[in-house]
Parts: sequence; C-alpha cells; structure tokens
Amino acid sequence: EGDYFVLVICLSVAIIHAETSCDDCYKFPELFMLGSSTASYQIEGGWNEDGKGVNIWDTLTHDHPELIDDKSNGDIACDSYHKYKEDVQLLKDLGAQFYRFSISWSRILPNGRDNKVNLAGIDYYNRLIDELLANGIEPMVTMYHWDLPQPLQDLGGWPNFILSEYFEDYARVLFTNFGDRVKLWLTFNEPLTFMGGYSSDKDFAPAIKSPGIGDYLAAHTVIYAHSRVYHLYDQLFRTKQRGRVGIALNINWCEPATNSSEDVAACQRYHQFNLGMYAHPIFSTEGDYPAVVKDRIARNSAAQGYTVSRLPLFTPKQVEYIRGTADFLGVNFYTAYYGKAGEAGDSPSMARDTGVITIQDPAWGLSASSWLRVVPWGFRKELNWIAKEYGNPPVFVTENGFSDHGGLNDTGRVHYYTSYLTEMLKAIHEDGCSVIGYAAWSLMDNFEWNRGYTEKFGLYAVDFDDPDRPRTPKESAKLVAEIIRTRQIPE
Ligand code: NOJ
Repeated sequence: EGDYFVLVICLSVAIIHAETSCDDCYKFPELFMLGSSTASYQIEGGWNEDGKGVNIWDTLTHDHPELIDDKSNGDIACDSYHKYKEDVQLLKDLGAQFYRFSISWSRILPNGRDNKVNLAGIDYYNRLIDELLANGIEPMVTMYHWDLPQPLQDLGGWPNFILSEYFEDYARVLFTNFGDRVKLWLTFNEPLTFMGGYSSDKDFAPAIKSPGIGDYLAAHTVIYAHSRVYHLYDQLFRTKQRGRVGIALNINWCEPATNSSEDVAACQRYHQFNLGMYAHPIFSTEGDYPAVVKDRIARNSAAQGYTVSRLPLFTPKQVEYIRGTADFLGVNFYTAYYGKAGEAGDSPSMARDTGVITIQDPAWGLSASSWLRVVPWGFRKELNWIAKEYGNPPVFVTENGFSDHGGLNDTGRVHYYTSYLTEMLKAIHEDGCSVIGYAAWSLMDNFEWNRGYTEKFGLYAVDFDDPDRPRTPKESAKLVAEIIRTRQIPE
C-alpha cells in the first residue's frame, strides 16, 4: 500500500511537471530557419569597381562626411566585394541555414532606370549565390537596403511615384537572373527608416528636409512599388521559380507609460504610424492605410492650411491591388519604448501627426546605440501584437541584434541574443505566434550608417585598420553556432 502511495505521488508530480514546465520551450521548431543578415552598402565596398554606378550613400558620405560620426564611408567597408568567399565560410562556421544580404541596385543598373545591365554586377551576385548554395546555405535577398542609384534621386527619389515603375523593372532583372536559385525575396528593408531621408537633412541619405511631406510621399511610392513587384512575380515567375516574396518592416514595442486610456491609445497610434503605415495596406483584411493614420494626417494638414492631406490617398483600385501582396512579413526588431500621449516633433512632421512621446527606462540595459536598450519582453509582446493585428501571418525575423564598441568578449551581445531568443520562443510555443525564421544582425561589424564604424553589431569582428579586413569570431558567434547546432538555447 505504501508503494502504491509513492507511485501515485510520483505520477502526479510527473503530470504537474509536464504541465507547468514546457520541455520544448527552449527548442526551435523543426522547420524554423536560423541565419544571419547584412546589407550591400554596409559591407561590400568596391564602390566604383567594375561599372557600378553611384548611389545616394556614396554621395552623402563623399559630399557630407560631417554627417557621419567618424567621417567614414562604405568605399571599402568589409571589402565583401572581394571577400565574399570568406563571408560564406563564416556563415558555414556558424552553421547558418540561410544568409540574408542585399543587392546593390547601382551594381546591376548603374543608371538605375534604363536597360543597360552591368554584367559584372550580375556576375558578382551569381558567384555569391553559387558559393552559398555550394555550402548548403540558402540565399535570402533584399532588393533595396537604402542604396538608391543617384540618377533616380536626381529625379526626386522615392517621393516621385514613377520610381515604383523603375523598381519593378529592376526587380524583373533580379528575378530573371537569380530567381532560379533565390527563393526568398524581400522587396524593401525598413521603409520607415529610409523615408527619414526625406524628412531630415541630418541623417539618412538623401538627407532632404521635408518632414511630414517628403517622407509620406516616399512611403506612398514604396508601398505601391512593393505591390508591383509582388504582382510581377505572380504573373511571370512564381509558377516556375516557386519562391516567396515579402517585405522587411521595423518596429519598436510601445508600452503604455500608464494604464490611462490616453496612453494606451497613444501606443496603438505609435504602432499604426510606424508599422501599420506599411503593414496595414498589405497584410490587413481591409487594406489601405490605417484609419487613424489617414484621419490624423488629414486633420492636421487642414489645420496647417494645406488644401489636401500631406499623405496621398490610394484609390480603391490601388487598395485592392496592394492588399495581400506578401507571402510573409519580415520583422526587424531591436528595442522598446514607453509611450505617452502628447505632442512631439516639428509641425508638420510624422512625430507631430503620431502624437506620442516616447521614453526609455534608464533601468533597461544600454548598448552602444542611443536608441537601443535591452528589453527582451518587448519582443514577445510585439510578436503577439502583430499576430493579433494581421491574423497571425508567417513572420520572419529579418533582423535582431545588439551594438557595442568592439571586442571579442562581447558578453552584452551574448546576453542579448540569449534573452531575446528565449522571448521569441515563448511567443512561438506559449502564444502560438507563427514565427518561421530568425536572422541575427549582423554577420560582421560593418558601416553603421551615420554612426560610421563606431557602433559594432557583428558576430564576427572586422579589423578596419588592416587593409585585408580580417574577420575574427566573437563569443556571440560561438553562442549562435552552438544554438544552431543544438537547435536550442543553452541553459
Ligand atoms: C536596421 C538596418 O536595417 C540595418 O541596416 C542597421 O545596421 C541595423 N538596423 C542596426 O541599426
């Protein structure tokens, strides 16, 4: 009878244990893809080699070095134009299943918009793609990671709606030349960020100051351009090539500063202006810009004396054309803010239209980037917000990472990846969010835009003082390799 009693106790403990501890919670689902991410201007160098045309980041860094913290540029960067084989070896050492990189539009079409394809550019990406595939690594290609051909900026850049047509022409060249081997496509990287290049003359290229006007015009063209490329793929390539086309959008978690209805609504607005502006037209069932975005911009525009809204409207036909044009949603996620209702920014500006004051908690861990604090729980909340808002679409985390000032013993980055990945796995296993892949930003230290080489995001260190640009694994590279090998987060 005593034995029976012990058995019952043991069984109950086992059952309770099985229910409360989740054995799979630290494991990655079988089909989940793990890899790493870079972008052409940040790593390639070779800025004027083999027929490449000039792009807006060449222009900005050459003409306005004062806008870059260390007055540097991407002329040589990590020299990946010559060292791509080494890059593939780094990925192989990580055990990466895929590599997210971007194609430099000016390398393919030096003038941006005519049909004079630069064969040396095609050749470079062919060699990179073939090297990846020979090593069992799947290529994931971003078509546009901020390096617009200068001749297209000379026509006004993204605020000019005609660019949606030129972008489609460029995408056709990419599908035609690489689509037999590339099955994962992202049209744009972080339109929210690069539209800032038409808002302020202090940071992103082309650094034109037109807040609340140029940036909205740019967004408008980019959304339409994305949908044109999706339709192009459907019409001419999908049946044969069988790939998937998405877009990479960035968003920070916004935690209401108080539980007042004003602050809760403020964070909803934050999401709708920063993510919904792009995601709602494409991923929501009704399509178009979020109502709150359209309404607030129209209202503010009228109050400021504009005869039409500063945000252009899509026609009902365009709304239908754009709706549903993605096979998955790419998400770049880094950090979180507290949000409060209130007026921020110039008038007019997107910040003023949004009407949210954001603050970070000084208790949250610091990185080398002013905007990036360590808030792992924000990641889980964000993935849940997206799943709820857009009907749980397949989400591919296209970027997530941490900056420091350098060094191989990067404990801050090790802690960042461990804690963020743990929260992501909770979103998958406990909340049912359909997250299908994850790319660490970045494979190696690189040109961090206006911060130059002062902020390091790499799993591998790059010595920028050495002309050979040698790469060395950091502790975080060892962690990520271990995670990919064991397909779980180490305890
Ligand atoms: C966003 C961008 O896509 C990437 O280019 C940048 O380096 C990282 N996040 C870090 O700021």
